[in-house]
Parts: sequence; C-alpha cells; structure tokens
Amino acid sequence: MWDKHNMLSSTTTRANMLFMLWLLFSSWVFSLVSATVSYDSKAIIINGRRRILLSGSIHYPRSTPEMWPDLIAKAKEGGLDVIQTYVFWNGHEPSPGKYYFEDRYDLVRFVKLVQQAGLYVNLRIGPYVCAEWNFGGFPVWLKYVRGIAFRTDNGPFKAAMQKFTAKIVNMMKAEKLFQTQGGPIIMAQIENEFGPVEWEIGAPGKSYTKWAAQMAVGLRTGVPWIMCKQDDAPDPVINTCNGFYCENFTPNAKYKPKMWTENWTGWFTEFGGAVPTRPAEDIAFSVARFIQNGGSFVNYYMYHGGTNFGRTAGGPFIATSYDYDAPIDEYGLTREPKWGHLRELHKAIKSSEAALVSAYPTVTSLGSKQEAHVFKSKSGACAAFLANYDTRYSVKVKFGNGQYDLPRWSISILPDCKTAVFNTARIGGAHSSKKAMVPLNRAFSWQSYNEQSPTADDREATVHNGLWEQIYLTRDASDYLWYMTDVKIDPNEGFLKGGQGPILTFWSAGHALHVFINGQLSGTVYGGLDNPKLTFSNNVKLRAGINRISLLSVAVGLPNVGTHFETWNAGILGPVTLKGLNEGTRDISKQNWSYKIGLKGEALNLHTVTGSSSVEWVQGSQLVKKQPMTWYKTTFNAPGGNEPLALDMSSMGKGQVWINGQSIGRHWPGYIARGSCGDCDYAGTYTDKKCRTNCGEPSQRWYHVPRSWVKPSGNLLVVFEEWGGDPTRIALVKRTATA
Ligand code: GAL
Repeated sequence: MWDKHNMLSSTTTRANMLFMLWLLFSSWVFSLVSATVSYDSKAIIINGRRRILLSGSIHYPRSTPEMWPDLIAKAKEGGLDVIQTYVFWNGHEPSPGKYYFEDRYDLVRFVKLVQQAGLYVNLRIGPYVCAEWNFGGFPVWLKYVRGIAFRTDNGPFKAAMQKFTAKIVNMMKAEKLFQTQGGPIIMAQIENEFGPVEWEIGAPGKSYTKWAAQMAVGLRTGVPWIMCKQDDAPDPVINTCNGFYCENFTPNAKYKPKMWTENWTGWFTEFGGAVPTRPAEDIAFSVARFIQNGGSFVNYYMYHGGTNFGRTAGGPFIATSYDYDAPIDEYGLTREPKWGHLRELHKAIKSSEAALVSAYPTVTSLGSKQEAHVFKSKSGACAAFLANYDTRYSVKVKFGNGQYDLPRWSISILPDCKTAVFNTARIGGAHSSKKAMVPLNRAFSWQSYNEQSPTADDREATVHNGLWEQIYLTRDASDYLWYMTDVKIDPNEGFLKGGQGPILTFWSAGHALHVFINGQLSGTVYGGLDNPKLTFSNNVKLRAGINRISLLSVAVGLPNVGTHFETWNAGILGPVTLKGLNEGTRDISKQNWSYKIGLKGEALNLHTVTGSSSVEWVQGSQLVKKQPMTWYKTTFNAPGGNEPLALDMSSMGKGQVWINGQSIGRHWPGYIARGSCGDCDYAGTYTDKKCRTNCGEPSQRWYHVPRSWVKPSGNLLVVFEEWGGDPTRIALVKRTATA
C-alpha cells in the first residue's frame, strides 16, 4: 500500500515535473515567437511582467559604428534597460526616394547591437525629431514639395511622413526587430512634442494629431506607440513627459503608465553660449522623485550626446559638440561622478522593483518639507522613498523604527522599507575620475591656399534680378552663398574728394556674413541663437568707376524647432542701400545680382586627397596666417594608444574641418561664450541657465576626431578658415583619465 502510494505519488511528481518542464519550454518558445508588450496604469508590460525601465538616449549618427558597442556596453553597465534613439530622416533620405542606411546611418546595425547587449530599444521615428539636428530631421527637399506645410493637416506632408514612417517600420519588421518578433524594440514614437504647436495652430493641428496616431497604430508594430508632450494623444497611444522634472505629470487616461521620455541630463551648447551642465545630485533627485510618484519609465536625454559631425547641427548656431554634459561624454568616456552616481541610483531602484510595480504609493508627511512614499505589495514587498524638498537644510526624520539623515534636496531609497541604500545627494567616493585633454606635442606642417572672393562677372555665377532667399538657391548643399553685384561710382562723387566712403546698409535673415569690396574684406557680422538676423551698416571704400561688391552669406545650421520653421529664411533679403552719394541714398536691391553656391574649394573638393592636389598650395615662409578665407592642409601619423582624439582649435576663428575627407564639423572657437557662469548649487529647481561654464572662453574649443577615421599614417587634415587664424597653433590632443 505504502509502496503503491509512493509509486503513485512519484508518478504524479514525474508527470507534474514533465508538465512543468513543458510549460517552461513552451513559455520560452512562446516568448521567442510571440513576446508581447502592453501596458496598464502602472507600467509597460513585457511578456506579462510589469517593468520599471531605465533608458538612455544615444543617437546613432552622433558617434561612429566603431564606438557603438562600447557606448551600449557602458549604458548597460550603468544600469540601463533601454536605449532610446530618434530616426534621422534627412540622413536616411538625402534626396527623394534615394535611401542611405550605411555607416553612421546604419540603423539596423545599431538596433541589433543593442539587442546583442541584451537591452531594449525605444525607437522614436518622429519623423520630426527636433534634437538640435539640422532642420529638425526633415530633408531640405521636403520644403520644396509643391503645396507642402510641415506638421499640420496637409496632404503632401502627411503623404511624405507616412511613406517614411512606414519605410522604417517595415525595415524593422523585415529584420525582426520588434519585441513581438523576438527583437529589442519595445516602443515606438510618432511625432515629437507636437502638443505646444497644436495649441498654437488649433483645428488643423488637432486633426493632424489624430491622423498621426491612427497612421502609426495602423502600421501594426505590435508594440505601444508614444507621443511626447501631447496631452491629447489618442488611444491607444501613450502621452509622455519631457523636462528637467516630471514628478507631477499624469498621462491622459488612468489606464496609461506614467512615463518620462526626456530627462535632460544637461543641455546643448550653442556657438556664442556658455556651456550648460547639470549636477548629478539633481538628476538623481528628479528620477527618484518621479519614481516615488508612480513613474515607471525614465529616459535620460542624452545618455551619450556625441558630436554633430559634418553639417548635421541644427539651430541655427548649434555647436558641433553635442556633449550635453551626459553620463557618457562626447568622446565615449564615462563622465564622473554622473555616470557612477546614476548607476547606484539604478541599483537602488531595481532592488525596489517588485514593490514599485505592484503597489501604488502611500504618501505620509515626515515634516514641513519632508515626505515618505511607501510601496507595499500584497505579497509582502515593501519599498520606501524618503524625500527632503528643503533646498537649505538637511534634516533627521523618523520613519518606521528608524531615524534617517536626509541632506537638503534629496531622496533616500529604502528597497526593504528599512535600509537606506542610496541617497540622491550623497555621491560615493568611487566616482571621482576626471578626464582631461592632453596635448600630443606634435607640430603639424601646414600648407595654405587662398580662396579668392568671386565677383559678379564670375563665369559660374547665375544672374537673377533682385535678392533671392539663400536656402531656395543652395538647397543646403553648402553653408555658403555669394551675393555679388557691381556698383558704378561717378568720378564727381563728393566722397571721393577726401570724405568717408558711403554707408553700405543691408539686412540679412542670417546667419553670418562677410562683406568684400573690390576683393577686400570690409566687415563680418553674425547673429546668435536668440536672434539669427543681422544688419550691416558701415562706411565702405569705393572708387570711381566699377566697384565689385561680393557678400558671402553663411548658414550655420537650419532651424530645428518652432511653428512652421520650414518657412524661416536665410540670406540677404534686402533692402541693400548706399547712403552718402551725391544723389543721397541709392537702393541697389532691385538691380541684377549674381549668385554662386558654395566655395571654390568646396567645388574642387579640397578636403579630399585628389581634390587637394588640384591646386597650388604654399608653405614655409609663404604660409598665409591670420587671413580670412584660407584653406589649410597637412598630413599626420596617428598617435599610438586608443584614447579618444580631438583638435584644439582655439587659435582659429570659424570654418570647417575634415579628416581623410570626412567632416568633423563646423569649428567656431572665435565665438566667445556670453552670459553668466554663476555658481552651481545642486539644490533647488534646475534650469538650463544655471550651472553654465566657459563664459569668456570659446563656446567650443575641442573638436572630436573619431579614432576610426584615422589611419596609422598619412592622414589628411584640411581646415577651411573664414575669419583668419593661426593654424600653427592647432594641436592634436588625447582625452585621458587623470586619476
Ligand atoms: C526637446 C526635444 C528634443 C531636444 C530637447 C533639447 O524639447 O524633444 O528633441 O530638442 O528638447 O535638447
């Protein structure tokens, strides 16, 4: 009997075990084949499990593919679950229907690398992305589609947006990259911060929002769609928050989770602006505050900011560096104490996950500016967040059976409701490693070539009557557009008899401009991020007879934000006048102007090996220094080691730099950072005006030279300098940890 019973029970056990194994196996297979992503009021649910997700933005074209694996590994080590990126339409479709997904734009490779690292992806398709990216990510050709108006209820725009969005979604599907197909993408975004625009434009904005949501959902990705800063995001799209703080945000339906798509870890740098930084203590505080108020998804914008290579910077006036004071710096090195401090924060949050996902917080007061947020689940998990909002005083609070010291403006995390394992304002000593730029002491041997200013009779110029808008003519193929005309001065003009020359006055929609009169530079003007427009009004030297006026108008990145920014102009739109002639003031706006797109050096491809050998360069004692409009070239061998490299451009003014034919971006160290660089207390509400650095120094002195762009020997370095600088003081530096 006993035996029988025993036998029976052992058979049952075996059957049970087999059944369990089968269950395990089938749920494994199930998870491979049809993983699910859904959501409820608490969190994103992946394969049936609610998750607290920590995410970080890394924009793939802002680093090189060679850097991606390390950046992703550092994000993982830093405690992230998700990598968030925008998709950059103008990089992928440089001309209509001609797609590009190679090199830095190899989106599939990037997503697969994230997958291999075991992380998820939040794909923000946009395709409007803002992001301080040229034209907000829109291809410039899109502006010239007949009848188009961006980001509103407009047929041609919607057709183009749908076509590109579908292209990306289908590409991800074909590569099986959505979570439902076994891939890493758990969420996608349509549009970007359209709410404020909708508020401004009203009805057509509202219908556009509905259309965008429907269109996206119709693409059947199997994963949730989000819309950031979009209070009226239609179901099932989740509206999410962006900002330095989001603790008070609530989604627009009680069945949607509270998510934060952009927690700004710093801010972007503009040429002419001071460099923003944000204290690690305050970022950690903002995250803990969001989580203690029921938030379940936090993304750091940026986790690695990187570089606006080439002419990808938006603006106008966005700097080449997009470092952002992010936890991983522009060069791919961890920024301490930020990276390490946030890693500790993530550990504390993850230890609390079981309680966080299964309970709503109970909030009790611990003092006039102190609170406890306690998450207690039915199954017994308990996590507590003890907060001190006081910006001036640290306090001791009583909680449960314990006493806790809370520094000012801080939150302590107690994953078991007893032990404080982390406080947002206490930075561990382990995170002190600083990085510095160390000169490599190699003198470059430079050669120079002078870019002559063309004149109205230039053979390659096109003549138009009156003044034309810059981007209409250049289609943004170059920053540069020459406006050239001739002015006839009568020998009887009064000013020729010893007076000052007449005053040349004109207005330009931006962004920078050089005035050449008879081949001589007679002035330079430029705007700034606050006001890209500029006026020139100066006496100019004219002679009797024909005078050649050549105005070089320079664009410094197309706008990336603002209602209908596609309609904003650049270049000289007039009037252009000469005052102080015998006749009084002469308006020369309406006469014939000759136009030439780009520089001669650009047409000759001087930045490449073949191109640069097509002209005569001078060197040695003939080397031209401190002269505007000069090209420089040199060759160099790669320094050993694998530390990141940069160029110290502080001796130069403004222009562009290429290594082996690849543009490392616009340089503009001549634009000195204005503004105030006061002290930086971590406590109190952060704004991007707080904690600025570099006042009185160039906004950007160093320019990242990706290691993978450099060969062991014979590297061609080319600089085009608009203002005039001393190339002999350009230095190659390496970025190294200084203990
Ligand atoms: C947000 C925008 C981002 C980026 C950020 C500032 O409003 O969504 O794309 O522009 O501001 O860095």
